[in-house]
Amino acid sequence: MKAMQDRRLTPLDRLLAGAENALRTLAPPGRRGARPSPALDLPESDLGAAEKRHAAGLMRVNHAGEIAAQGLYQGHAAVARDAATEEQMQRAAREEFDHLAWCEQRLTELDSHPSLLSPLWYTGAFAIGAASGVLGDRWSLGFIAETERQVCAHLTGHLGRLPEHDTKSRAIVETMRDEEQRHGENAIGAGAAELPAPLRQLMKLTAGIMTRTAYRV
Ligand SMILES: [Fe+2]
Ligand SMILES: [Fe+2]
Repeated sequence: MKAMQDRRLTPLDRLLAGAENALRTLAPPGRRGARPSPALDLPESDLGAAEKRHAAGLMRVNHAGEIAAQGLYQGHAAVARDAATEEQMQRAAREEFDHLAWCEQRLTELDSHPSLLSPLWYTGAFAIGAASGVLGDRWSLGFIAETERQVCAHLTGHLGRLPEHDTKSRAIVETMRDEEQRHGENAIGAGAAELPAPLRQLMKLTAGIMTRTAYRV
């Protein structure tokens, strides 16, 4: 029990870990995830110029979502009260970091780049994560469960919009969707509260603004 308590981070540890994660998240493209991209061994498809631009726009939106996921999970973890909740969030954040790297690699392959507004997506999401976490772990878990539910629906939408033969982008999005679904289920299993409907609507609205913007810049 004592050893367990000793492993808990002090506020300064958390602050430094948060700053390190922000720098790592916002570093220029070129990183590798801990796990290889699901697209790694798939052949490149023959995309026309317009298809390539469209696929890049959608993958830029997904990349921006993963930047926000880092901010959100780190914001939650920074204020989580329960050690198990904090560990669960850090574990999910590590998987989200792979998603980030995979989207980034795909954007480079599509001759494109991440959103120029990445620092804004990160800081905004971090603030929301920390603010909901302050209300208590049940609410921050509820926020995560609802976010992951909306992200799954969003990724399903992207599978309908990505070019049919862009197998590389599709493989990434499909794997991400499976893992986001698990993140959501884990949050519910850990005691997530059901968010009030107006808040769920507000989250949808905010995500809509972000996706429309990141598609272009
Ligand atoms: Fe993700
Ligand atoms: Fe997730």
